[in-house]
Amino acid sequence: MSVRSIVRLGHPALRVPAQPVRLDRLSDVETQTLIDDMFETMLDSGGVGLAAPQLGIDLQLFVYAVIDPDHEDGIDDEDLELRALINPALEPVAGEVIYDWEGCLSIPDLRGLVPRHPAVRIHALDRHGKSLEYRAEDYEARIVQHEFDHLNGIVFLDRMRDLRSLAYSAEWEEFLTTDQDAAAQVG
Ligand code: NI
Repeated sequence: MSVRSIVRLGHPALRVPAQPVRLDRLSDVETQTLIDDMFETMLDSGGVGLAAPQLGIDLQLFVYAVIDPDHEDGIDDEDLELRALINPALEPVAGEVIYDWEGCLSIPDLRGLVPRHPAVRIHALDRHGKSLEYRAEDYEARIVQHEFDHLNGIVFLDRMRDLRSLAYSAEWEEFLTTDQDAAAQVG
């Protein structure tokens, strides 16, 4: 496994819809290595999600980590549940949108308040081609919506309804977060 470099805003891969992963290619060493490298790159960069276009790769695939939000301080790798979703589709579950802080590994050092659906139904394949269908809520739903957007050329700035909350992370920590333990979800 290896850590790959993450492309930043301005790279065209972040602004075009990605292509579906061909199912006859899913078990290829190249694809499986890509998934492993995405996990390693995500963990190395301190993110909770990473989509293939963020590595400049034109595929509908993302990885993310589910973390119990009650255990935010002192997370070690055993507290992380890692998931890879191939060719995902999302269906919002009815409910009022929730605003919370997000950041993006492709837009380093910025944080902003982003509205997201409180829950989504996910249809996807896992890395072995098995069908997945489940519901994600709150923290996990936010990560999944952020990463899914990357597969459609959308970044969190596009989702913000008021750019006045945009902040550099140091200033965000100093002035904007009320909870010492709060962490923006970065993908
Ligand atoms: Ni992102």
